[in-house]
Amino acid sequence: MAAMLRSLLALLLFTSIFSHISEVSSTTITLHNKCTHPVWPGIQPSAGKPILARGGFKLPPNKAYTLHIPPLWSGRLWGRHGCSFDASGRGRCATGDCGGSLYCNGIGGTPPATLAEITLGNEQDFYDVSLVDGYNLAISITPFKGSGKCSYAGCVSDLNLMCPLGLQVRSKDNRSVVACKSACFAFNSPRYCCTGRFGTPQACKPTAYSRIFKAACPKAYSYAYDDPTSIATCTRGNYLVTFCHHR
Ligand SMILES: *[C@@H]1O[C@H](CO)[C@@H](O)[C@H](O)[C@H]1NC(C)=O
Repeated sequence: MAAMLRSLLALLLFTSIFSHISEVSSTTITLHNKCTHPVWPGIQPSAGKPILARGGFKLPPNKAYTLHIPPLWSGRLWGRHGCSFDASGRGRCATGDCGGSLYCNGIGGTPPATLAEITLGNEQDFYDVSLVDGYNLAISITPFKGSGKCSYAGCVSDLNLMCPLGLQVRSKDNRSVVACKSACFAFNSPRYCCTGRFGTPQACKPTAYSRIFKAACPKAYSYAYDDPTSIATCTRGNYLVTFCHHR
């Protein structure tokens, strides 16, 4: 009996190690909701890359969901908040809405929304948290199991609390700020959007607005031509993307 139990345990150990090995061969992105409210993550692949998890789902507070990512995938993830959908998945979100559907199916989020951008490569993966489309929720990207720099990227300050009046998106009852527009989105000027004669890194310098974003979130990309060191790299990492990881 004891011998049988021992071999059963050995078998269990073996299968758990084996499944572990097969797991590391594909990249995973685990989405973790640390907000006190539900988040509906949206996932938009870059052109030509596959749609994952139909592009969106609901993630209750304190829950995590792991996505298996095919090699060389690239795309962006964001969090939608204040959503309501009917049984068929039609509805809308207060921030980050993607065409009024629970399933974003390749469609991006309506700004303002904080973006986690990830590009998987053969040699290196690239990732950053971007405020170029504005801010709605705190997002951080923490790599694990990878080799190389694999630094942390993210914006964990609550930028909604520091958002300048002209950039604020307020709740329906006007009592709170639910999102903070980028200056480009709010004013649509070449100076803020780095377009026209401001269309080069030399000509498009930080502005008073992008400086507010950068001061609150130094490890995030604050405007179109922000310092490229805001882009982190890691080799064969897995990634933890956390919503509302406030510090
Ligand atoms: C909403 O609140 C802001 C900040 O208190 C105020 O400036 C603005 O006038 C308010 N808007 C409305 C429509 O009440």
